[in-house]
Amino acid sequence: MSQYILSIDQGTTSSRAILFDLQGNIHATRQQEFPQHFPASGWVEHDPEDIWSSVRQTCDAVMSEACAEDDEVIAAGITNQRETTILWDRKTGEPVYNAIVWQDRRTASYCESLKSQDLEPLVSGKTGLLIDPYFSATKIRWILENVAGARERAERGELAFGTIDSFLLWRLTGGREHRTDATNASRTLLFNIHTQQWDPELLELFGIPESLLPEVMDSADQFGQIAQGGALNGTRVLGIAGDQQAALFGQTCFSIGMAKSTYGTGCFLMLNTGDKALQSEHRLLTTVAYRINGKPTYALEGSIFIAGATIQWLRDGLRLIRDACETEPLAEGTPVDHGVYLVPAFTGLGAPYWDPNARGAIFGLTRDTGIKEIVTAGLQSVCYQTKDLQKAMEKDGIRPVTLRVDGGMVANNWVLQFLADILGARVDRPSLVETTALGAAYLAGLEAGVYGSLEELAGLWRCDRNFEPVMTKEHRDQLYEGWITAVQKL
Ligand code: G3P
Repeated sequence: MSQYILSIDQGTTSSRAILFDLQGNIHATRQQEFPQHFPASGWVEHDPEDIWSSVRQTCDAVMSEACAEDDEVIAAGITNQRETTILWDRKTGEPVYNAIVWQDRRTASYCESLKSQDLEPLVSGKTGLLIDPYFSATKIRWILENVAGARERAERGELAFGTIDSFLLWRLTGGREHRTDATNASRTLLFNIHTQQWDPELLELFGIPESLLPEVMDSADQFGQIAQGGALNGTRVLGIAGDQQAALFGQTCFSIGMAKSTYGTGCFLMLNTGDKALQSEHRLLTTVAYRINGKPTYALEGSIFIAGATIQWLRDGLRLIRDACETEPLAEGTPVDHGVYLVPAFTGLGAPYWDPNARGAIFGLTRDTGIKEIVTAGLQSVCYQTKDLQKAMEKDGIRPVTLRVDGGMVANNWVLQFLADILGARVDRPSLVETTALGAAYLAGLEAGVYGSLEELAGLWRCDRNFEPVMTKEHRDQLYEGWITAVQKL
C-alpha cells in the first residue's frame, strides 16, 4: 500500500491533478487545457463548467489510472489561478456569469474613477494592493451591475462569490462548504490583510453585499470533505493557497528574504517578509504568503501579466515556432544585443508600471530582423520584466537573499542564464519545478500531520542547477536601458 497527497492545480490555461508521495515526489499527473474566451478587446473569460469538468476529469483520471485500490490518499490540496471571479447561485450551484479572469481589463475606467477620487491610499493601506482591474472586487461589482437580477439576488443572500478555490471547494463538497483561505482572500481588494477580516468599508466602497463572501480559513486547515462519489469520496481538503503563494510554499521560501519567481502564463516574483506586511513605495503588492495556525506570513509581490504567454503568442498567434522547445536553440544562435525589444503588454502592464491601457509593441526592427531575433526578444522580455521587479524591490530597500525559479519556462536553460546575467544574481532551479502543486500538497500534508514542521519541509528542497551571472555590468546596464526606452515608448 502506498500513501499519497492529491494536489489540484487549477491554472489559467489548464487544470492538473497530481499525486505526490509523502517525500514530495510526483507519482502521477494528469493535465487538461480548456478554452479561453475573449468576448471583447481586453476581456478574458472562462466557462466555470469547463473549469469544473477539467478538474473532475483530471482527478478521476489520475485516481483510476495511478492509484491502486489499497493505496491511500491522505488529503487533498487546492491551488488556483488567483483573483478570477465567479458568482453562483447557492441553491442550484449554477454560475450567473462566466468566470472573469484575472487578466480581464473591462473595469479599467471604473478603477480610474476611483483613483481620481484619491481612494488608492485607503484601499492600499488595508489590502496591500493597488486599484486595478486585476483584482476581484471590481469584477464582482461588474457582474452585479451587468447581469440582470444579480444585484437583487445577491442582496437577498441567494448568490455566493468565490475565487476558483472557493468555487471548486463548493462543488467538491457538494455545496456544503463556502470557504477560502487567507492568500486567496488577500487578492480580492476586500480583505484587510492587517486584521485578517473582510473589510466593511471596502465592501461599501465597491457596493458588495457581505452575504456573498466565503469564510476565510488558514491555508492549512479543515476545509471540508469531498462528496462527489468515486475514489475521492470522503477525502479531506486540508490545504488551499493561491498558485503563487503555493509556489512560494513549495519552494520552501520560509525565511525572510527568500524569493521565488514563477514563469507560467504570467510571472510572479514573491519575497517572504515574515510577520511584517511591508508597504512598497514602488508599486509592488503586499500580500499574505500563507497563514498557519492563525498567524499570517506576508510577502512582497511583483506581478507581470504576460511571460510564458508571450511564447504561446509567438507559437499560436504569429506561428514563428511550432513548439516552445524550439526557442532555446534559436536564442542560442542569436547574439543577446540584436537590438529588438518585444514589450508584451497584451493585457496592459503590471508591476511596477500598472498601466491597464498599455498594449504590446516590437521595437528596433530592421531589414535583417528575422524569426530568431523576435523569438529571442520574446524570451528576453520575460527577463527584463523580472529585472523591473528586482529594481523596484531594491528601491524599497530589499534584495532577495535567494531566487528560486519554477514554472514551465524554467526548463529553458538559455532563459535562466540570461535571467541571471540581467539580474546580476544567482538563480536556483529546483529538481522539481511543479512547485505550485507541491505547495498545496505540503499545506495539506502539514494539516494532516504528515509533516511536523516547516523546517522538515525545507529539508525536502533539492537543487537541480544554479545559474551564475557572467555578463559584465556595463553590458547588462546597456541592454536593460534599451528595454526601459522601449517601455517608455509605449
Ligand atoms: O494572479 C494570477 C495568477 O495566479 C495566475 O497564475 O500560473 O495561471 O499564470 P498562472
